[in-house]
Amino acid sequence: DWTAANMVEELVTQAKADIGDARAICALSGGVDSSVAAALVQRAIGDRLTCVFVDHGLLREGEAEQVEQDFVKATGVDLVVIDAREQFLTALAGVSDPEAKRKIIGREFIRTFEQAARDIVQDRGDEEHPVKFLVQGTLYPDVVESGGGTGAANIKSHHNVGGLPDDLQFSLVEPLRLLFKDEVRQVGRELGVPEAIVARQPFPGPGLGIRIIGEVTEERLDILRRADAIARAELTAAGLDRDIWQCPVVLLADVRSVGVQGDGRTYGHPIVLRPVSSEDAMTADWTRLPYEVLAKISGRITNEVAEVNRVVLDVTSKPPGTIEWE
Ligand code: XMP
Repeated sequence: DWTAANMVEELVTQAKADIGDARAICALSGGVDSSVAAALVQRAIGDRLTCVFVDHGLLREGEAEQVEQDFVKATGVDLVVIDAREQFLTALAGVSDPEAKRKIIGREFIRTFEQAARDIVQDRGDEEHPVKFLVQGTLYPDVVESGGGTGAANIKSHHNVGGLPDDLQFSLVEPLRLLFKDEVRQVGRELGVPEAIVARQPFPGPGLGIRIIGEVTEERLDILRRADAIARAELTAAGLDRDIWQCPVVLLADVRSVGVQGDGRTYGHPIVLRPVSSEDAMTADWTRLPYEVLAKISGRITNEVAEVNRVVLDVTSKPPGTIEWE
């Protein structure tokens, strides 16, 4: 019988057996998956787990603060925050190809975790117990879509599956790799992870890096971050957070169109809204958002984000579209 309580017991036992008396780090993103994975492993090995939150510069507004507030407060987990903004942006400079971006981001994550693992062992004065394990919140659909499942084509390399180097210095612990999102949410509730985290909409590990179509630069990130914050605020204000699976906001950074504002010509970038409804992200339908909400978002973005002069709505299901544009 599938119950969250049984599942927690089974997964905790398994994690204990896998990790033994070594130390582990968990790649914490602040999202549901990594938070639940961290809570599970914390229950298994206690303070031999350290969570590592990487600020790669591809985060949305307020995200780093939220992790510290919500998750650490609820779990008391040992957390290290690493400012890797410059490292990631430098590595991404000049790159526009989606898979190339994903691979670079995955590689830089791993480098950052390797360095963090060395630092943690030193800082904690625990040289006898090196960090041997990397805990990730990989779910079943991530595995399938990255080509790791049986017979599935590689649709896109999820950053925590497809981008791992061959000489990885950790063994992976992926307690959620056979679960779907709704199961993960139930397991999280059973573990006492706060509802604010468990109910959070998915956000991809590569962050805004795969929502800028074209090269990722600091200036483009800043534009997208402001537009995204407006869209999220208005969806929340309209009480729609529970009705949609997620709503990627995408910047078409290499596209420009002519517009008019006041009595002047503009030549700005389009922003795409991609609201979707889904059960497990394997398939999705575009969400029929109320026109008034769309109008509010569009009006505010074009008024408040000077570089954007057009807002368009993505009305494609998955398939044939994927949820993210890259
Ligand atoms: P796609 O675009 O493949 O997205 O239809 C399916 C779901 O997965 C999320 N996503 C990711 N999550 N790392 C993640 O942790 C990734 O590299 C990644 N790529 C896509 C996406 O937001 C959607 O919920």
